[in-house]
Amino acid sequence: MPTSRLKVASLFCGCGGSDLGMMGGFTFLNQEYSRLIFDIVYAIDFDKYAVETYNQNFEHKAVCADIVGVDFSSIPDVDVMIGGFPCQSFSTVNPTKDTNDDRANLYKQIVRFLETKKPKYFICENVKGLMTLKQGTIISKIVKEFSDVGYNVCYKLMKAVEFGVPQKRERVIIVGIRKDIEVDFLYPNSILTEGNFVPLNRVIDSLEIPEQKYYFSERAVQGMKNAKNNMKRGLWQDLDAPCLTITSHLAKTSMNSRDPILLVNPKTELYRRFTPREAARIQSFPDDFILNKSEPKSYKQIGNAVPPVFMWHIAKALQDIIKKTK
Ligand SMILES: C[S@@+](CC[C@H](N)C(=O)[O-])C[C@H]1O[C@@H](n2cnc3c(N)ncnc32)[C@H](O)[C@@H]1O
Repeated sequence: MPTSRLKVASLFCGCGGSDLGMMGGFTFLNQEYSRLIFDIVYAIDFDKYAVETYNQNFEHKAVCADIVGVDFSSIPDVDVMIGGFPCQSFSTVNPTKDTNDDRANLYKQIVRFLETKKPKYFICENVKGLMTLKQGTIISKIVKEFSDVGYNVCYKLMKAVEFGVPQKRERVIIVGIRKDIEVDFLYPNSILTEGNFVPLNRVIDSLEIPEQKYYFSERAVQGMKNAKNNMKRGLWQDLDAPCLTITSHLAKTSMNSRDPILLVNPKTELYRRFTPREAARIQSFPDDFILNKSEPKSYKQIGNAVPPVFMWHIAKALQDIIKKTK
């Protein structure tokens, strides 16, 4: 018997990387990612530019609002909830790591959603740093709160590169299954191993591009060369390997930052940043995904996103266990 379609709510949807992966029905690097059984019936983000991009790319529309003020009893019932709760305050690159700030506490909105809507399944994505923050006490607390509202919860650090994304991005994937549903989630097995990862050159058509605005000035190159040796700077990428993780601040990439860049010509010491379209490809967005017309907004949305191909494999694993329980 065919499995019926499942309704999904997407909290903190951003421009929709996770949502595209959840739905499927797209192509990346000539590979088709089939349409899955999930339909998004509710999506919310309070960044109007992210919602603008989202709504250009999907038939269903996202709501632009602060989740804190949303009465969840007034939104449609769903089978699945997905939500990459904001992670800036958890991030390993954020030295302040104030775990009491509002952004860190936004996982409480997920708890509130689970309590009110009681979806059968949920998937949350977060940065690697969440695993080790305060010696792991934060993730334990979050998992306990999800469990206390009725879910069996598991979590795992996963590598996007093992699923065909040309990037060394590692993220914690938390999955919850309502306690009355007797099934365990099985994380997808990696499809690629070291040695056959997708290299950066698959998504960079040409090192040299006509737009001058993407190149670093001679002064910037000199500044990088004068930097102390022990500083991580001028992180130009090996085109034959996957790219370093791209972040939401790519618009402000400098040669003296920890962001990946490209070495265009070693002889003339020509370096450049990625274009927004290249960043989107590094994140496994298909080329027909419409980017925000503002480049800084676009970099931010793309850097914040869950790579659609990565999410597709997680969603497919959920679909597989749901089909088994029928
Ligand atoms: C990590 S990003 C999500 C990326 C998204 N899952 C994707 O794959 O494209 C987190 C999002 O949370 C949103 N956000 C942060 N605080 C919020 C709030 N109080 N209400 C609604 N959205 C919020 C941000 O605007 C940001 O787009």
